[in-house]
Amino acid sequence: MMELITLQTENTTYQMGVSELGHLLHLYYGAKIKGDMSCLLTYYDRGFSGNPYEAGSDRTISMDALPQEYPCYGMGDYRSVAFNMRDEQGVFGVHLKYKEHHKTEGKYDIVGLPAVYAKEEEAYTVEVMLEDEEAKIEVILKYGVLPKLDVITRSVVVRNVGDTKRYISKVYSSTLDFLTGEFDLLHFHGRHNMERMMERVPVIHGNQSFGSKRGTSSHQHNPFFILAEKDTTEEFGSCYGMSFLYSGNFRFEVEKDQYNQTRIQMGLLDEMFDYELNPGEEFYAPEVAMAYSKEGLTQLSQIYHKLIRYHVCRGAYKETRRPILINNWEATYFDFNGEKIVNIARQASELGVEMLVLDDGWFGKRDDDNSGLGDWYVNEKKMNGTLAEVSNKVHEMGMKFGLWIEPEMVNEDSDLYKEHPDWAFTIPSRKPIRSRNQLVLDFSRKEVVDHIFNQIATVIDSAQIEYIKMDMNRSICDVYSALEGYQNYGKIMHQYVLGVYDFLERMLNRYPNILIEGCSGGGGRFDAGMLYYTPQIWCSDNTDAIERITIQHGTSFGYPISAVGSHVSAVPNHQTGRKTSIHTRSVVAMAGSFGYELDLNLISEEEKEAVKTQIESYKKYWNLIHNGEYYRLHNPNIHTEMAAWNFVSEDKKEALVNVVSLTTHGNAPVHYVKCKGLDENKQYQLEETGEVYDGSMLVNVGLPIPVIPKEYQAWQYHFIALS
Ligand code: GLA
Repeated sequence: MMELITLQTENTTYQMGVSELGHLLHLYYGAKIKGDMSCLLTYYDRGFSGNPYEAGSDRTISMDALPQEYPCYGMGDYRSVAFNMRDEQGVFGVHLKYKEHHKTEGKYDIVGLPAVYAKEEEAYTVEVMLEDEEAKIEVILKYGVLPKLDVITRSVVVRNVGDTKRYISKVYSSTLDFLTGEFDLLHFHGRHNMERMMERVPVIHGNQSFGSKRGTSSHQHNPFFILAEKDTTEEFGSCYGMSFLYSGNFRFEVEKDQYNQTRIQMGLLDEMFDYELNPGEEFYAPEVAMAYSKEGLTQLSQIYHKLIRYHVCRGAYKETRRPILINNWEATYFDFNGEKIVNIARQASELGVEMLVLDDGWFGKRDDDNSGLGDWYVNEKKMNGTLAEVSNKVHEMGMKFGLWIEPEMVNEDSDLYKEHPDWAFTIPSRKPIRSRNQLVLDFSRKEVVDHIFNQIATVIDSAQIEYIKMDMNRSICDVYSALEGYQNYGKIMHQYVLGVYDFLERMLNRYPNILIEGCSGGGGRFDAGMLYYTPQIWCSDNTDAIERITIQHGTSFGYPISAVGSHVSAVPNHQTGRKTSIHTRSVVAMAGSFGYELDLNLISEEEKEAVKTQIESYKKYWNLIHNGEYYRLHNPNIHTEMAAWNFVSEDKKEALVNVVSLTTHGNAPVHYVKCKGLDENKQYQLEETGEVYDGSMLVNVGLPIPVIPKEYQAWQYHFIALS
């Protein structure tokens, strides 16, 4: 009998087994089962699939065909592996065998890295130790189990217990092997201004790989993936999620092998990774959060919403309503002074906006994006006074005050660069790649982080500040650390991310009441790692209501609504030139953490009245929007006429249905929007009209949407259950 290690959650089971030869095999992950799944394993003599020496003349045991828990290179598995190492001579490979495992109460955490957290009684941890006796390497696989939430997290510790250096060339955090199944992959690709577009593709024979080598998790591929059985829909079928709590280079791979077995895995990008591990040292791999649903994609998303909202996000604003803000970026860009900002704030405060966020351009010499980054002192001439004076004026209007920063960057045209040119990533004797005319500071160096942190803290301490927008506006290149004595460059990109996390952790410790919003040219660093520090992230620089629907739809698969920074901006929209009504813009922006990003002095009186109403609506609905359950009612890849989504309170007594028309036609047919998540045995009253609808009718037939011969109409229906 095989020794089994079984993890149980309320609705799922995860099982590994230790083979007679000491290999840790993956047996099962999916719907809850009882018993020993080692009966699923089959043994055949497979040509060109090598056999471990210890198997003697038995040619049916091969790592190339058996499901692995943590596949590593060098053991005869020719699929993509999770782990590889080299020694100082450049010899690759490792032979990991099971040593021991144990279980403890509570959820593990990870030094210097974001991790899911839970109360002692909400989680347990299982650690499985593997070792290579020859290479003197120990690998500890960590599993954090949150039974109520049906979540299992994974992380890995690598320990050099020998007396020579080793280099980790690949270290993924999570692998899943499936013996059987026909799958699709759902991934979220994009670009600046168009992030997280959902694409569903069949898993094919061979290896498909997605990821980022940009230094951030990136606009181009989000570190969240779903593997779904072919027939899986929003409400039906098996699907698995993997979310990486990490904000830098990563890779996700899916591979269908020669025997139609499927492997998915995720972790740090191995390209250019070569992590030097000295004798006695340990390496901590970032965490992957896995979840399984046998009831389709909606349920899987709702698991991640709860996980991230309650077990990843932290801070004073984790569960409270975020202030409704006005940001001056699209209102002014760099063309402002203190007076203009105060005028924007005044009009906004009269309409009920609760916070003014001063965006890029308040510091150093920064009247365009070619200079000033790195010089974190207030440009008092431009601001017509000190920051405290501006902030006081805003506070006198009854508003909070927020500030934009971009700590990881430097312009060559700055005092900082003149003083410390070696603090920027550049390769000696080579001209660096510029992007937005800026270079990236070497945040792998503590002294750099110290300096920038102290400069920014001095500014924050000088005025009353309740919010920080932390931006990051380029991809990283020219990776080289000028730190004296530095030898191994295969570590830097990871240490850079650790430096960013260190900066953020210091911010949270020093300013526990400040709300930090993440940002990277909009949603270029929108990941569960960032959300550990910043409970919301500016979702995209694209503020066009219609395109935002697709962006927010894709984002909703892996991230809670509260995480999505979303604003009403001016029309014609600055990114697309499209015109939509202020009502439509507000309905879309309310599916997030709500705000405005335009000069409200410039809109009509009628629109000002609309803004007042919107603010009241958001205050009324935010709890339902952030804490209720979110349902996608349309798929933008299929439904091109109408977009719709609804929120339902957990007790199903309240629902908010949102609909936006995407096209307009002469003599148009009527669309019916089927709601989701309502109680079919309840009657719901539509607050606006008093009309009563049967829950079963709303769910099974749908709500008729009025035909209006006008583009981009939006509706918000608020239903209250009668009993
Ligand atoms: C990025 C952000 C914008 C704005 C600008 C300022 O693009 O996403 O919201 O802050 O930087 O330079």
